[in-house]
Amino acid sequence: MAYFEPVVLRSLERATREARGQKLPVIAGHKLLYRCNLECKMCPFWRREDEELLSLSQEIRMMDALVRTGVSFLGFEGGEPMLRRDLPEILRESHDRFHTSLVTNGWLLQQRLPEIARSLELLFVSLDGIGPMHDFLRGIPRSYERAIDGIKAARERIPVAISSTITKDNIYHAVPLVDLAESLGVSITFQVAYDYSTADAMSPMGPDLLEVLRELRLRRVNGAPILESPDYFDAIIDSWYRQKSWHCKPWMTMNVDPQGRIVLPCYTLHEYAGQTPVWETDVAALWNSYDWSKYETCNKCALACYLEPSIFSWSNVGMIRDRIVSNTFARVARRWRGPNPAIVRRSPGLPTS
Ligand SMILES: C[S@@+](CC[C@H](N)C(=O)[O-])C[C@H]1O[C@@H](n2cnc3c(N)ncnc32)[C@H](O)[C@@H]1O
Ligand code: SF4
Ligand code: SF4
Repeated sequence: MAYFEPVVLRSLERATREARGQKLPVIAGHKLLYRCNLECKMCPFWRREDEELLSLSQEIRMMDALVRTGVSFLGFEGGEPMLRRDLPEILRESHDRFHTSLVTNGWLLQQRLPEIARSLELLFVSLDGIGPMHDFLRGIPRSYERAIDGIKAARERIPVAISSTITKDNIYHAVPLVDLAESLGVSITFQVAYDYSTADAMSPMGPDLLEVLRELRLRRVNGAPILESPDYFDAIIDSWYRQKSWHCKPWMTMNVDPQGRIVLPCYTLHEYAGQTPVWETDVAALWNSYDWSKYETCNKCALACYLEPSIFSWSNVGMIRDRIVSNTFARVARRWRGPNPAIVRRSPGLPTS
């Protein structure tokens, strides 16, 4: 809970500035590196050759700059963050300042868990299908088995969520992955694959995706441990199937590349081409002079880190009930009940927890 007091104070300060009409980021995502030990088909990052990393002291400088902008939530990713030797030190520094999360492919999770568990509020482990489908998409045999072993070890110490990317190949694994998350007693979050110019084109479309999005929404409403809100699924369905766009506010989420540079307007559109280091930037001035209006109806991606904060509204009672109240009750109930054996029986081929 080291982060708790500063996060609350920063949130209050930011709310006051926002009430005065100022734009400021709430969440930050930071790629610690591009390098990776897997070779996922839909992923552009492991293929990059322009990697240049920040030292630990530069990482701290970056975090201090994020604190000054009012950021409260920091999520680390990559490449594969577990490949960084100084990860425990970086996460400890982050935990002192922010609500801290990390996303990993799970290959090194069991090994590195003891060094990092105390510094994380939430850990995401990527799983893109059951068994061979995951290994096929991730390009390396045994990546499924190692991710599952990592999840089983980590769930004893920290809140864990499966992070799943829906592609044209694994579309019918999305619902079984919800069953798997329930059987493992963890949450699950989804993103729809975006077609980066330097990765394989894997983005799903058409009636198959619509059917799966509807089913996931239904599961979520019925209490499955899906982190996205029902509004998230509605927004994608409306924009991609009914030409009714959601209003994107990419300024709510700041992305920082491995060299500490801000990626504008969002990391999807500019494919991680950062500009100036965050510590050399007057973020409040940049955020309030940048022309965000061109991106309001972009709707090209469905990444929850942009979409969810964009559509959230404190004045929408139904949204607060769906996202915060029912989610909290569902989590408490799941902890109390433990894994649901009936769900494992309905899903042949799933490993038992
Ligand atoms: C880039 S990875 C970095 C962290 C770690 N290596 C991992 O795989 O979890 C972060 C997340 O991005 C997802 N991802 C990869 N390629 C994507 C794409 N084309 N569109 C959307 N998400 C993607 C991954 O599945 C993973 O859940
Ligand atoms: S998605 Fe993650 S595990 Fe897969 S290649 Fe990209 S960075 Fe590596
Ligand atoms: S909808 Fe467009 S502008 Fe908004 S985050 Fe996605 S790609 Fe970026």
